[in-house]
Amino acid sequence: MHIAVLGTSAVGRAVASRTAELGHTVLMGTRDPSATAARDEFAAWHRDNEAVQLATFAQAASGADLVINATGGDASLAALRAAGELAGQVILDISNPLDHAAGFPPTLFVANTDSLGEQIQLAFPAAHVVKALNTMNNAIMVRPRELADGDHTVFVCGNSAEAKALVTGLLQEFGHRDVFDLGDITAARGTEMYIALWLRIAIARGKSDFNIKVVR
Ligand SMILES: NC(=O)c1ccc[n+]([C@@H]2O[C@H](COP(=O)([O-])OP(=O)(O)OC[C@H]3O[C@@H](n4cnc5c(N)ncnc54)[C@H](OP(=O)(O)O)[C@@H]3O)[C@@H](O)[C@H]2O)c1
Repeated sequence: MHIAVLGTSAVGRAVASRTAELGHTVLMGTRDPSATAARDEFAAWHRDNEAVQLATFAQAASGADLVINATGGDASLAALRAAGELAGQVILDISNPLDHAAGFPPTLFVANTDSLGEQIQLAFPAAHVVKALNTMNNAIMVRPRELADGDHTVFVCGNSAEAKALVTGLLQEFGHRDVFDLGDITAARGTEMYIALWLRIAIARGKSDFNIKVVR
């Protein structure tokens, strides 16, 4: 597939590395490619990931089979708008609506009766938004078999069965064994609000090397 990864921080880099390793063509979107290329941390990563091309959000998303949103939740709508109309395109949305204004742990700037996944779907009605992977750290997202041989759950939700099938295929390529379809995009409320518990588990453990499993 031609994959656009919007976002150049930990999640964007993890997803870009892994999808490129799996043989996909990856363009990574950022606001200012030359400024991002000059960042020490990004440059160090890019030396080991030369197959991943850096581009503007719009260049990356143009013609992509899959657009992955790995930008900060408070910046996601702006980043996606910069990417274009995204009509007919599948958006895998990994973002969380974190509000850091009151310090740590962050709260959510949308919850209960709405979600960031829904806001993205509403803003891009001709795109097919699939929320997934936002419930675990970026290392487990892309290499789930390194934790309990993949015996844990990743959720997908979205309004298009075809888009969910495409994303599910990629999650399985990553190594996910239990892809749990929660239904339409309103289920993003649940996976985003789970972050309140995820944060407390991470604080209690002192690390984020865990995931949950729906035992059934
Ligand atoms: N870190 C994790 O393991 C983890 C786990 C689950 C979910 N998530 C979620 O995944 C997303 C990415 O997390 P992250 O830690 O990798 O990165 P992040 O620091 O939350 O976001 C970085 C990206 O946001 C973009 N950005 C920031 N302000 C912007 C603006 N005003 N307009 C457009 N783009 C803007 C940056 O673009 P530039 O490249 O131009 O600087 C950068 O690529 C977040 O929503 C996070 O909540 C993270």
